[in-house]
Amino acid sequence: MTYLQIEGTNHLSGSVTINGAKNAALPLIVSSILAKNEVKISNVPEVEDIKTLISLLKNLGAKADLNHHEALLNTTTLNQTTAKYDIVRKMRASILTLGPLLSRFRHCEVSLPGGCAIGQRPIDLHLLALEKMGANIQIKQGYVVASGTLKGAEVLFDKITVTGSENIIMAAALASGKTRLLNVAKEPEVVQLCEVLREAGLDIKGIGSDELEIYGTNGECLEFKEFAVIPDRIEAGTYLCAGAIVNSKISVCKVNPSHLSAVLAKLEQMGFGIIVENDSITLLPAKEIKPVEILTSEYPGFPTDMQAQFMALALRANGTSIIDERLFENRFMHVSELLRMGADIKLNGHIATITGGKELNAADVMATDLRASSALILAALAAKGTSRVHRIYHLDRGYENLEEKFKALGANITRLEE
Ligand code: EPZ
Repeated sequence: MTYLQIEGTNHLSGSVTINGAKNAALPLIVSSILAKNEVKISNVPEVEDIKTLISLLKNLGAKADLNHHEALLNTTTLNQTTAKYDIVRKMRASILTLGPLLSRFRHCEVSLPGGCAIGQRPIDLHLLALEKMGANIQIKQGYVVASGTLKGAEVLFDKITVTGSENIIMAAALASGKTRLLNVAKEPEVVQLCEVLREAGLDIKGIGSDELEIYGTNGECLEFKEFAVIPDRIEAGTYLCAGAIVNSKISVCKVNPSHLSAVLAKLEQMGFGIIVENDSITLLPAKEIKPVEILTSEYPGFPTDMQAQFMALALRANGTSIIDERLFENRFMHVSELLRMGADIKLNGHIATITGGKELNAADVMATDLRASSALILAALAAKGTSRVHRIYHLDRGYENLEEKFKALGANITRLEE
């Protein structure tokens, strides 16, 4: 097994270029199931989750290649509609194939994704919405077996769900008639999916709001134009936190600052300077790192995917910070590992109280999920001594060229074999 060895430091400098957003690329790649032509997508991050999805599309009989951050997809040859367990269990966002496969082929079987480290991750809202659109949904031996001709319907999501919204937007695209979606997620990744489908000829209104009207094509596939994936706001936020945790000036480039408003506001509240210039953001050191109160919520609120990174950062604040994780029931897996580095964190249900200012000591720690593992790297950068972060396959799912980028900032970080 590989691990990352990280030397604690008190200084970073330089800039990193941010890749395309994994959580935008996933639905965008799946949306090629709705295409009548070859789909060319640039600025695709070359991370494990994307590679897994590309292999899933190949398993379904589509042509799918990813080279030099460019995906070429042609699903006109797609000849089977079963997304098998051995792939879905590796990448739960494979559930995104359910809506488009059903909408186009009127039948599909997609393995239930199962839970993950951060929570049970149900898909009940995805299934309820498809049933509202006329689908017959059965659960058989761990698979969602879906059939039927989808018709436009009015769907109100009980909870805001990112991939639930994406799944049903794609299902509605080829359905017959108008679908009205209420309480839709407004994440930039959902917005880009809607924009790409509109460019492909889909009549969709309300993009960027929590209410969408989609006029389905009644089975007619769409003519996709070429497009580039939006920058990864979570990757950008992670590197800004790397600079912040060692109180250094660093920059992130090729980003969309407007996607990071909540994150930048919290960094400023903690005393850091933020300079925004077109597609780059520069973090300036704080005179004193102040404690912070964070409540995770749906976009444009503070993103849950930045919660672990800010918990690590709060360890350096001069005072007590509070983090209230509202989206997932078990997204504090990084806490026990941070405690092993000398952190002072108390958990009470979904609320974490972090007492900053204590010295962090290097340790062997274990990654548990994608974002928790990035928080461990940040803490290791600020700790005294040499830390090792194990099970870094979690990181490789969502961060491309991670150690090269940290090295570009001056970190002493090496990938080694156990
Ligand atoms: C997406 O997951 C992201 N993944 C997650 O990023 C992100 O943390 C999450 O949205 C929240 O922003 C991708 O986009 C691939 P949800 P998703 O459905 O869509 C409940 C990362 O690190 N819910 O918005 O699975 C659910 O349990 C990953 O990149 C239901 O109850 O999240 C949660 O409490 C981690 N029933 C809340 O809604 C459902 O049918 C939000 O989940 C669906 C969701």
